[in-house]
Amino acid sequence: MFTINDLSAALIQRRRAMEIINATPDGKKLTHPAAHAPRIFADTATIDEIRPLKEAGIINGVTTNPTLLKKAGAKSWNEAKEILTAILKLMHPLPVSLELTKTEPDEMVKQAEELRALGPENSIIKVATGGYQALETPCDPFTGLKVLHKLWERDIKTNATLIFNSTQAFWAANAGATYVSPFMGRLADYMYKNDQPELPPGNSLYSIIDHKNAKGDQFVSNTEYVASGGARKDAGVRLVREIMAIFANYDIHSEVIAASVRNPVQLTEVLLAGADILTVPADVLGTVSEHPLSDKGMVSFDTDAKVFST
Ligand code: G3P
Repeated sequence: MFTINDLSAALIQRRRAMEIINATPDGKKLTHPAAHAPRIFADTATIDEIRPLKEAGIINGVTTNPTLLKKAGAKSWNEAKEILTAILKLMHPLPVSLELTKTEPDEMVKQAEELRALGPENSIIKVATGGYQALETPCDPFTGLKVLHKLWERDIKTNATLIFNSTQAFWAANAGATYVSPFMGRLADYMYKNDQPELPPGNSLYSIIDHKNAKGDQFVSNTEYVASGGARKDAGVRLVREIMAIFANYDIHSEVIAASVRNPVQLTEVLLAGADILTVPADVLGTVSEHPLSDKGMVSFDTDAKVFST
């Protein structure tokens, strides 16, 4: 099987050319140890989910889409724009991705200008890279690439979305996309349902979703750590790794957003793959500092510490 060579050195060099995420203020002696850390975005349009994550300082941006806006309660384009405006204001100056709903290039550019005006300093326009031929009224398959290029010409930052292979990512970057979003979670879901899972178990993408908590409604997270042995086998993480390799080969600076991350194990695997950004649903972000053994350890430290309270 084709394996992607170790990219660490190339990726470190690439990170150094990118913006510093955790800057150390002037005059501070203790420099921030994770200056070149990846950005973490919240993948939601629900402001009550975004606010606590923003206040906790664990997110650097937000991504939305029409489905997430509908879930957040928007019933019309005006209501959608009100929600987006509130998110842009809350997150300012951090980036928020707003997705186009039009499918004709001139109308898309017009709608991009309309959306940019909601938050001129931090709006990012999300453009579907492909899928135009599958619409009720099929459109030019190059619609997405054309619009990405037109928006680049207008100095409008873009996020090329609905990416499922590295070719789409390359062409989107070539058209001028600021960010590219491989939907690694959806790809993994698809493979899980339609492909023969590799055996024996150990690949998180094929096993974690079989593990429920006692209530039967949540995935048990971080208890089945598989690291890169699993990452090589799963299609979603492999896609992110391929794109990182191609972008490192050609010094392409479009930032790679690992999108639709389903659980902390996938999250770990895309960090190992070197993704620039991870966009993660709020419920998954809520679990990142948790582990059953942390609970156990914390309770016993707390119990033993009671002796010091007198
Ligand atoms: O940012 C991508 C995302 O919104 C898609 O996520 O969970 O619908 O596959 P999902």
